[in-house]
Amino acid sequence: MVQFATGLKIFQTDATMKTVLVTGATSGFGEMLVGRFLDGGYRVVATGRDLQKRKEIFSVLRPIFADRLIELSLDVTKSNEIQSVAEFVGSQFSGLDILINNAGYGYFCPLEEAVHDEVRRQMEVNFFGTLFMTQKFLPLLRRNHGCVFNFSSVFGFMGFPLTGLYCASKFAVEGLTESLRGELRPHGVQVCLIQPGGYRTRFGESLFCPSTPPQSPYANQMGAYQKLREKQMTKVSQNPMDVVNGVFHLAERSSLPLRATFGRDARFAKLIRRFLPNKIYQYCLDKVFSKIFTLDKNSPSGG
Ligand SMILES: NC(=O)c1ccc[n+]([C@@H]2O[C@H](COP(=O)([O-])OP(=O)(O)OC[C@H]3O[C@@H](n4cnc5c(N)ncnc54)[C@H](OP(=O)(O)O)[C@@H]3O)[C@@H](O)[C@H]2O)c1
Repeated sequence: MVQFATGLKIFQTDATMKTVLVTGATSGFGEMLVGRFLDGGYRVVATGRDLQKRKEIFSVLRPIFADRLIELSLDVTKSNEIQSVAEFVGSQFSGLDILINNAGYGYFCPLEEAVHDEVRRQMEVNFFGTLFMTQKFLPLLRRNHGCVFNFSSVFGFMGFPLTGLYCASKFAVEGLTESLRGELRPHGVQVCLIQPGGYRTRFGESLFCPSTPPQSPYANQMGAYQKLREKQMTKVSQNPMDVVNGVFHLAERSSLPLRATFGRDARFAKLIRRFLPNKIYQYCLDKVFSKIFTLDKNSPSGG
């Protein structure tokens, strides 16, 4: 087995060992995926914003998997950082076996009040981050007949009021991935969408959900939505490790489905989306939404 050094670290270059790269590995699903793949015998390139300065993150895994855990700083909105990480992986390993585009967050607010720079940031991270990472790593993935997991969401197939920007970013990830399936299959690269329902990670804390001023026509809707979300968050009992184990087991398969849905909530949403006729589906959603977002007649939107 050949070994090489980068700075002070020495990593294994065992040619039979598979390499997986995870974005957004500093928290939630991403951080757990790093541990799961290391446990499973993979070489893991864990990437995250300023990861090399955030030494506490893998303090437990680092000493155990010192020769298989590679920590690299990567903000998925920065093309120079994507380029450096791709050059590093390309120069050190035979190629890339698995790319997990996990980095993401939610920007929840009424469209009318959305701030342009924030709208762009939402798409930069969730959609363009996924797109440019995939594009840059394709030569390495082709070399190893690898696969790409793109994190979508239940919001990637179901529109929900006040979350339109997040939904748009995840619908875009869905469209891109579905198209890539046929484009990349002849090159031996498979793609798979991961569609989790609600899981308690740091997602709720990272959510950018600016408060709506009381005079806003959307104040009541937003207030009702915040209450619903808080109630749901206390009820979320689904274990994020189910998603992480699910991704791991998919990665071990020779053939991937286009979509993998996780959680009772997401599977139920998918079921009604798929089997209810459109009219009935929309009617049911309208009923649910009007119950959740009942407008106060005295609100400014009454006019
Ligand atoms: N939790 C859920 O219920 C749920 C449901 C459906 C889909 N998802 C999706 O699952 C994925 C992971 O989310 P999570 O639930 O694990 O939430 P999380 O705990 O908040 O983790 C999100 C990760 O994304 C990273 N990130 C954000 N912007 C980034 C950027 N510009 N460059 C690199 N990394 C960036 C964060 O880094 P920092 O530590 O630097 O902030 C963090 O590591 C997301 O794509 C999310 O949309 C989550």
